[in-house]
Amino acid sequence: MASIKLFGEVNNKPVYLIKLNNGHIEAEFISLGATIRALRVPDRSGNMVDVCLGYDTAEEYMTNDGYIGATVGRNANRISGSKFSINGKEYKLNANEGENQLHGGIEGFSHKCWNFSCTENSVTFSIESPDGDEGYPGNLKAAATFSLVNSTLRIDYSASCDKDTIVNLTNHAYFNLSGQGSGAINKQLLTLGAESYTPCRDGNIPTGEFAPIINTPLDFSKENSLDFALTSLSGTSTEGIDHNFVLSSSPAATLYSEETGIELSCKTSLEGLQVYTSGFLTKRNGKDGAIYGKHHGICLETQHFPDAINNPHFPSPIIRVGEEYKEWTEYSFKIR
Ligand code: BGC
Repeated sequence: MASIKLFGEVNNKPVYLIKLNNGHIEAEFISLGATIRALRVPDRSGNMVDVCLGYDTAEEYMTNDGYIGATVGRNANRISGSKFSINGKEYKLNANEGENQLHGGIEGFSHKCWNFSCTENSVTFSIESPDGDEGYPGNLKAAATFSLVNSTLRIDYSASCDKDTIVNLTNHAYFNLSGQGSGAINKQLLTLGAESYTPCRDGNIPTGEFAPIINTPLDFSKENSLDFALTSLSGTSTEGIDHNFVLSSSPAATLYSEETGIELSCKTSLEGLQVYTSGFLTKRNGKDGAIYGKHHGICLETQHFPDAINNPHFPSPIIRVGEEYKEWTEYSFKIR
């Protein structure tokens, strides 16, 4: 059953905590940012382990950086120069990372209060974003439904708009399969359904090329510990992995912790996966007394490729009037 409680308040608006439990897994969400606040799954001894980072208060979600657990939009990842053109008209967006826009702008969907409705094993968050919000064209309606199906958390995204626009929604959960608050993820094992990635120039903006991952620290085409990538890419501009992978097979990603026996597999309708190993997660208090820091979680952000709107050879993030954006992502858990 869904249980709903008041979690806090931001900008004089209530923030609700919604808890779902289907007897296999338990998830907590907050209406600020349509955020996954906790995800409890059984370890090999049957103890429930919370595998997602989160905070105790609504204020921390509002003021801290890092987008922990949030639904990110209207456009996840970066748009170079904070501008793009559709139908020959240029749109200027709010820049919030140097000259570029990251994760939907200054106050993107991650920082807004969403409406919601529940069924027994699901919650649907919805939001209306007015024409010109953060610079984007059109009145956009978007929704994200989170459902528990056996040991799977499934997310269904939808959106439509009254002007031709772009949409790219993702979830920014930080997973740690040894338990949130257990420290760095170096020993966890990752496999990706990808053979190439989109290399970047300054500002983590794609050059437009595709490069093979073979013979690089990013080669997770076979299961590999995260340690080598995190160590060898520390001190670089990505402080570990902060790269978009070009998905070529399913599952998009598999993550495993030998400590707990928990395996996560991620499947999606989308073509890109930004893997972010929290290289910029500065030391901070997390929920339930946890302390978080660099490399304490891994985000598996299913999405269109970064800056796709300014790279015509990338799959298009445009939705036209009358079209519906519909994408899905599943995070499934089992014991290995
Ligand atoms: C980006 C990172 C960024 C992080 C938190 C990720 O999706 O790729 O560069 O630091 O989000 O903002």
